[in-house]
Amino acid sequence: MSQLEELLAVWLPRQRWFSGKGIPIRQIRVESRHTLVSAGPEGPDLHVLVIQAGQRGLSSRYQLLLGSRPPRSLPPDLARVAIGVCQVSGGRPKVIYDAAHDAQLTGLLLERFTAPTGAEPSGRVRFRTLPGGRIRVGSTGRILTGEQSNTSLVYGEDYVLKTFRRLWPGTNPDLELNMALSGSPYVARPCGWIEADLAGHSTPTTLAMLQTYIPQATDGWVLATADVRALLEGSGSGHEPGFTGEAAQLGRTTAEVHRSLARALPTDVLTPAGAAEMADAMVERLAMASAEVPELAEHAPRVMEAYADFSEVDEPLPIQRIHGDYHLGQVIRTTPGWVVLDFEGEPTVPVRDRQRLSSPLRDVAGMLRSFDYAAGYLLVGHPGEAGLEWAARSWARHNREAFCRGYADGGGADPEKHLTVLRAFEFDKAVYEVLYEARNRPNWLRVPLESIATAAAAPPVPG
Ligand SMILES: Nc1ncnc2c1ncn2[C@@H]1O[C@H](COP(=O)(O)OP(=O)(O)O)[C@@H](O)[C@H]1O
Ligand SMILES: [Mg+2]
Repeated sequence: MSQLEELLAVWLPRQRWFSGKGIPIRQIRVESRHTLVSAGPEGPDLHVLVIQAGQRGLSSRYQLLLGSRPPRSLPPDLARVAIGVCQVSGGRPKVIYDAAHDAQLTGLLLERFTAPTGAEPSGRVRFRTLPGGRIRVGSTGRILTGEQSNTSLVYGEDYVLKTFRRLWPGTNPDLELNMALSGSPYVARPCGWIEADLAGHSTPTTLAMLQTYIPQATDGWVLATADVRALLEGSGSGHEPGFTGEAAQLGRTTAEVHRSLARALPTDVLTPAGAAEMADAMVERLAMASAEVPELAEHAPRVMEAYADFSEVDEPLPIQRIHGDYHLGQVIRTTPGWVVLDFEGEPTVPVRDRQRLSSPLRDVAGMLRSFDYAAGYLLVGHPGEAGLEWAARSWARHNREAFCRGYADGGGADPEKHLTVLRAFEFDKAVYEVLYEARNRPNWLRVPLESIATAAAAPPVPG
């Protein structure tokens, strides 16, 4: 490995967006490198790097935005994001650092959207804007904090530039679906994107998406958990849960978004073979999770029954493009209503798999699981407090009912009439969560495990 690659091998595992945590990095290979901004001999340069990180024989592609400056001209506030000193693109060694923290570079990066196309010498990285959309420049990017799998920069109150960290060849579904939904009041309008030609791939790969920033919005997870907290603190004093109206509206918005996606993009009906394939994937995941988490194994037979029921459903199941990673952290509440973000799907899954049509009830199941999480989250530190558990469970039940009612009112397939399908999808999502929590946050494991235990104890759906 080159000096740069050696430095990156140490730096990469510490980044929150790195999805291969806990597995040693055997190799880093810089696949391509482009200088997007160059502010003179002493000034900073901005480089976009596409790298391959090799772990356990598997290789994953990531995008890095690195700044470089002569070592003595690194401002003190950037010293804490320094990666090391090395040669970046020939010439004198420079200090390289995480460019997302450099206001000068993020400002210049936004300006690149207004430069004539092809300004990057190789032409292999392109900044695209939508016809008629003029990009307002002059602001600098501020990094969004919080639970994220990518890195997003907010420019004033104008834009969010989301740089995709894990790269797969082709158009990122976040861009594809937001473009298809452009004009909908329920999404943040896309304004442009950055794309690159990856070696050996004929279609461009999305590096970043520029989207309208929605100011003064509240994250759905924050809103929901604040409501659970208020309920639990007032537990026993007759506190009325306040989120159910929001949940119903979120259900309607979700149905509207699904309907728009179905109008704009291909739809189909799931064939029996397709249903069997879906059920097989669920069974496989269950087997893997049961092997890793013994507490799950005792519920596995009931979960298997739910999957068998799913594969035998004889009503035609409509399929279409869906959100793919739907939960309370992916929706924000603005004054007029809910806005849905992050149509990327699961970033660790290859894009071609995420583009497959699926049942919109998968997204419904995702959100229903999220209500369980919001309810269970505050109990993580209070195991065995029966009163609190009862209150939290009834919060989740009221909100799931409200969401489903809203979804049906908004023109979506009535979840109450598709309980067999929903039950299988909810189990599958919870099994995924069991695996995730066992590997990453063991003290949260009880949240999905208890949901599975409760649902497994409930009688299967009639009919
Ligand atoms: N257009 C936007 N307007 C306002 N806030 C946004 C916007 N896009 C993203 N955010 C905020 O950033 C967070 C992360 O964005 P998201 O697209 O979900 O990225 P990630 O893929 O990293 O999860 C969101 O939960 C939201 O709080
Ligand atoms: Mg997200």
